[in-house]
Amino acid sequence: MDGNGRWAQKRLLPRARGHQKGVKAVRDTVRHCSENGVAMLTLFAFSSENKNRSGEEVLTLSKLFLAVLKSETSKLHKNNIKLKIIGDMSLFSKEIQVAAASAIELLQNNTGMALVIAANYGGQWDITQATKKVAQLCVEGEIDYKDISSDDISKHLSLANEPSVDLLIRTSGEIRLSNFLLWDIAYSEMYFTDVLWPDFSASELDIAVKTYNQRHRRFGTRQEKAQ
Ligand code: IPE
Ligand code: MG
Repeated sequence: MDGNGRWAQKRLLPRARGHQKGVKAVRDTVRHCSENGVAMLTLFAFSSENKNRSGEEVLTLSKLFLAVLKSETSKLHKNNIKLKIIGDMSLFSKEIQVAAASAIELLQNNTGMALVIAANYGGQWDITQATKKVAQLCVEGEIDYKDISSDDISKHLSLANEPSVDLLIRTSGEIRLSNFLLWDIAYSEMYFTDVLWPDFSASELDIAVKTYNQRHRRFGTRQEKAQ
C-alpha cells in the first residue's frame, strides 16, 4: 500500500492526511475482497524499515493502527472476517498489542476471509525468525542440520499453513518488493500500478484481478495453457 505521502504532497497536505485517506482504501479493499470470495488478503501496513522514518510519522502511523483496530474490529466481525497480524509487534505500545490480541481473539472463529496485517514486518525478518526456530530444533536434536528442507523453513514462517499468495499488488509506480513476504511470493504473480494507494478502489482491484486471470501460471514447468 504505497503512495500515501505523495498523494498528500500533491495536494499540499501533511503526510498524515495521506495515511488517513489510505485507511479508506483499506476499508474498500477489505470489503471488496471479502464480498468476492478472496480467501486471504495480506496488507503491508508497516515495514521493518518504516520505523526508521521520523518519530512524528511513526507515531502518526501507530495511532492510526490503534484507531483502526478499535473502530473496525466489530465491522470485521459482522462480515465474518478472521484477523492475523504478522511482524514484530514488540515495536508497538502495550495498548496496541492488547488491542491487536483482543481483535484476533474476537474474530478467531470466523469462517470468511482471512485478513492479515503485516506490521513491523519484513520478509528478511520472517525468514530469519523461521531459521532461528529451525536452528533451535537442530540444537534439540529434533532435526539433523543435513536434513533441513525448505518445508522445515516454510513451516515456521508467519504465513505457514495459509493459502499460497496468488497475486501481489503494489501501488504508486514503484517496481520493487521492499522486503514484503519474499519467501512466500516465489511463484506469485505481480501487478504494479501507478495509482497511489489512497486512490486505490474496488474498480482498480478488479483491473488487477482481471490482469491476473489473463496470466498463464506455469510454476517453472512447461505446461501448455489449458483452454
Ligand atoms: C505507504 O505510503 C504507507 C506506509 C508506508 C505506511 P508512503 O508513506 O510510503 O507514501 P510515499 O511513498 O511517501 O508516497
Ligand atoms: Mg512509500
